[in-house]
Formats: sequence, C-alpha cells, structure tokens
Amino acid sequence: MANHRHFSEPKLVIASHNQGKVREIEELLRRYNIEVISASDLGLDEPEETGTTFIANAELKALAAAEVADLPALADDSGLVVPALNGDPGIYSARWAGPAKDFDIAMGLVEEGLNGIDDRSAYFVAALALCWPDGHCETFEGRVDGSLVCPARGDLGFGYDPMFLPQGNDQTFGEMDSDAKHAISHRADAFTKLTRACFAD
Ligand code: IMP
Repeated sequence: MANHRHFSEPKLVIASHNQGKVREIEELLRRYNIEVISASDLGLDEPEETGTTFIANAELKALAAAEVADLPALADDSGLVVPALNGDPGIYSARWAGPAKDFDIAMGLVEEGLNGIDDRSAYFVAALALCWPDGHCETFEGRVDGSLVCPARGDLGFGYDPMFLPQGNDQTFGEMDSDAKHAISHRADAFTKLTRACFAD
C-alpha cells in the first residue's frame, strides 16, 4: 500500500459550508475522537472552484482552509459524470442547477442532452482532500456506477439522485433510504479509502 501521512492531530477543520456535509463527516469521524470544526464556525470564505478536476477542487478548498486556520482541513468535491455528454455536468454539477439550486432544471438539461442517445451510463464521483498547513495533501476518489432514468423517480436524497439508478439495483438513489444509499455511494467509497489510509487505528 502507498505511504500515506497519518492524521494524528486532535482537531480537524471541515472545509465546507454545507451543514449536511459537515454533520455526515462528523459522524464518520466520531470513533476517532477528533474535534471537528466547520469552516463557517471559523468564518472562513469559500474559495472559487477554479480546478479542472474533482481532486483539484477538493484540494484547493482544503488547502485554503488549512492555511487560514493553521490546522489540518478536509474538503470534498463531487458530481455526476455522463460519458455521452463528454463528462458533463461533472465538476459543474452544482452550477447546472443555477442560482436557485433547482435540480429539476439540472436533471432536465441532462435529459435534454441525452435526447436521441442510447448510452445512458453515468457515475457519481466524490473526491476528498485532507491537507495540512505545510501544504501536504492526501487525496482519494470514490465512485459509484449506474445509469440514468427519465423521468426521474423518487423524492429522497438530493441533487441528481432521482435520475440515478445504481448498477445492480432497481431503485434510484431518490427512492432509496439514506442508509441504503450510504452503503454503496461514491462518498462512502472515498471515505473508506481515506480512513483506511490516514485514520486507521
Ligand atoms: P459540490 O458541493 O461542489 O461538491 O457539488 C456537488 C454537486 O454534485 C451537488 O450539488 C449535486 O448536484 C451533485 N452531487 C454530488 N453528490 C451527489 C449525490 O450523492 N447525489 C446527487 N447529486 C450529487
């Protein structure tokens, strides 16, 4: 296994202003006895996501927070990749929903783009970056493969969940309860890789 820097500090900044994400990460790290501080607790600004990959965007968010807080910081970046749309919406997944964050609009754009195209394959990606104030970063990527259904089904979850049918399932992420989704999601996959490499007891 590759040589990873182990996390042994008592405090960790979660470089996200999304309270849902912060709570989820806090729960996943509870067993390691780490004091988790959110970016909004520290009044940190959200840097512009100028990277061209999920990893680059996660890294720039974590590095910015680690530098300002002078503490290690963890950030994530995620999205839906549709090969038949040349990888869109990809790193622009949140932006496709517009300023009103309307995912019916975003899913409508995906459906429109796939009009007349048979290939409905898609996958979600979640990138995690754990960065230290000295600039060292450990990065991990998780993925879940599936296909897109139109019309979308279910009103659970968030974002593009109702149109994503994970491989080997007959329920979309929008129809699955959160435990079922978390058991197979891209985010869970990335977290397993992170905790095995950097937080293992
Ligand atoms: P981020 O906050 O920049 O990482 O934006 C990620 C965007 O990707 C979200 O706003 C969603 O649109 C989409 N996304 C990421 N993960 C999921 C998921 O698990 N389900 C549905 N949509 C997701």
